[in-house]
Amino acid sequence: MERDDILKRLRKIDVLPTFPAVMAEVIGVIEDPMSSAADLAKIMDPSMAGEVLRLANTAYYGTRNFRRITSIEHAIAIVGLEQLSQIILHMPFLSMMGGDGGLDREKFIRHSMICGIVSKVVSHTLRTGDEHAVYIGGLMHDIGAIIIYRYFHDEWKTIGNLVKREGYTWERAEEEVLSCDHGMIGACLLTMWNIPQQVTNGVMHHHCPQKAVENTWNARLIDTGNRFAKIIDLSDNLASLDEFINNNKDFVPIVEELGFDVSLTQELDLFDGVFSLMKNVKGLLFGAGEDTDDQGTGC
Ligand SMILES: [Fe+2]
Ligand SMILES: [Fe+2]
Repeated sequence: MERDDILKRLRKIDVLPTFPAVMAEVIGVIEDPMSSAADLAKIMDPSMAGEVLRLANTAYYGTRNFRRITSIEHAIAIVGLEQLSQIILHMPFLSMMGGDGGLDREKFIRHSMICGIVSKVVSHTLRTGDEHAVYIGGLMHDIGAIIIYRYFHDEWKTIGNLVKREGYTWERAEEEVLSCDHGMIGACLLTMWNIPQQVTNGVMHHHCPQKAVENTWNARLIDTGNRFAKIIDLSDNLASLDEFINNNKDFVPIVEELGFDVSLTQELDLFDGVFSLMKNVKGLLFGAGEDTDDQGTGC
């Protein structure tokens, strides 16, 4: 299937959610280095504010000195800009995923967040690529998998069977069935939503960065974030920075595949950056951090 065919098919899906106008404003705030959580609060609609309150209470319920969070200002002070932007940017995904248990929502969001965080920290530490575009692209990199699951469901099942029975990788099975992977499909959707090209190019090639013609660093950085997101087990690795580093030694070789010699200082900065951002995400989204057996995509 060519890019134009995918776009045609996507346009025919009349229930496809539109990207709320507020999302463009959210991206604008994230891209502005002078912005704060309070700036995001100003553009939130009531349903977003309610979701932020719910998540803030879920994350901190049961912790010492817990007091129910009842105001959005208090929630934002606890949640912070990084996490707030992650929650808001994932809202259209959550509505598309539905609640039928076919995709594990928590695992999917956690994977996306780790990818966004790692991509951003690597971009920032190595001063490579566009760190804001890479962060947004990392958060959204697998949105094409939701599209396939939701709107190309017969193909989704065939892909799953090829992976299970024939031992294909997820991306190879997608290529076989759809003639493209979920990166391309996600990029088509994001293009329809007028997301900036620096972001969509990174998403499009996150499994094949060597094919990227424009914004090649963004694709390579999201690929790095994605690969690290796949190997990390968040619930077991956040007791301490030492433990986190020990359990994730593969991280530095993955980063070095980008073509950089990572110095010891950069190595520590990378771990420190990823660790501290993920610690916040864990508290916010997973609270007790229980796993389920629902299906993931492995992409
Ligand atoms: Fe992927
Ligand atoms: Fe992924």
